[in-house]
Amino acid sequence: MERFNDLADFSIDELRALLKLAGKLEREPEPRALQGKVLALLFLSPSLRTLTSFQAAMVRLGGSSFVVSPEMSIHGLESRSGIVMDGVAAEHIREAVPVIASYGHAMGIRAFANRLSLDQDLADRQFGELAALVDVPLINMESAINHPCQSLADWKTLDDLGIPGNGGRFVLSWVYHPKPLPFAVPAAVLHMASMRGMNVVVLRPPGFELPESIMNKAREAAQRAGGSISETPDRREAMQGAHVIYAKSWSSVSQYENRPGDEALRRGFMKWCIDEPWFENAQADCKFMHCLPVRRGVEVDDGILDSPRSVVIKEARNRMVTQMAVLHQMLGR
Ligand code: CP
Repeated sequence: MERFNDLADFSIDELRALLKLAGKLEREPEPRALQGKVLALLFLSPSLRTLTSFQAAMVRLGGSSFVVSPEMSIHGLESRSGIVMDGVAAEHIREAVPVIASYGHAMGIRAFANRLSLDQDLADRQFGELAALVDVPLINMESAINHPCQSLADWKTLDDLGIPGNGGRFVLSWVYHPKPLPFAVPAAVLHMASMRGMNVVVLRPPGFELPESIMNKAREAAQRAGGSISETPDRREAMQGAHVIYAKSWSSVSQYENRPGDEALRRGFMKWCIDEPWFENAQADCKFMHCLPVRRGVEVDDGILDSPRSVVIKEARNRMVTQMAVLHQMLGR
């Protein structure tokens, strides 16, 4: 495997093989599989799970890793093209990224949306430019529009819980968050549930429809897998018979480049905080998923996070397990 950038680059059979390998590595550890291998990790955006789960995955497979981020004592990084570097930044990513890559056998990069342009972010332009500088196998650790490590882990969590693909009802729900968040997780998770053949409902207030390109990609995946996609602002309609609700906040398309406008729009939906009444007409054991980090009492009530409905810790642990499978395929003999 040379690139792990998008689940759409793989067939269902290839993804099922990765998930099977993840399960095997969980049951039967291989502490020498990646002996002598080094993973370079560049974090241009913050993280807890991705940062630690990749390091833990490499150690568990007998390899090692190193982390670079702007918060460390590195030179200030410039990313703009054609700029005269007479300001604070002393190093350009055009040199920094290939240098970091040259120290590893594979590399992971995290770079959130810079939100300068919706079209550029939907095209994942910044990540594409960074990826072009890397000549070793590369992992997308979250870009403007994708988070394949999260969606693969969430697929395994759904499998582990016995939640059906075909016939399973998956609600992706917008929730309130004080800041406009990117589309990476909702896009990746919507596509994953669609590839899995689930009946997927996007529940969102007016003004927070997902971009058409994200919806169309999921619709095509659902059609191929025998699932369906629908969207509604109606909570009761969405939750009818749901097996799982996946909470995530995202930005308004119409206000994407206007942060104060987005914040004003979202303030009208502060009541979109998931609590027990949301589950009224769902399956009795309907589960609650979230990629984390989550704001308690803002996105979801404490009572849900602390109840058996919540599988957020399982999801986070599956990040490490599924990334072990990706690294094993990428760097193993
Ligand atoms: N879910 C996730 O990617 O978490 P971090 O941002 O902490 O890495």
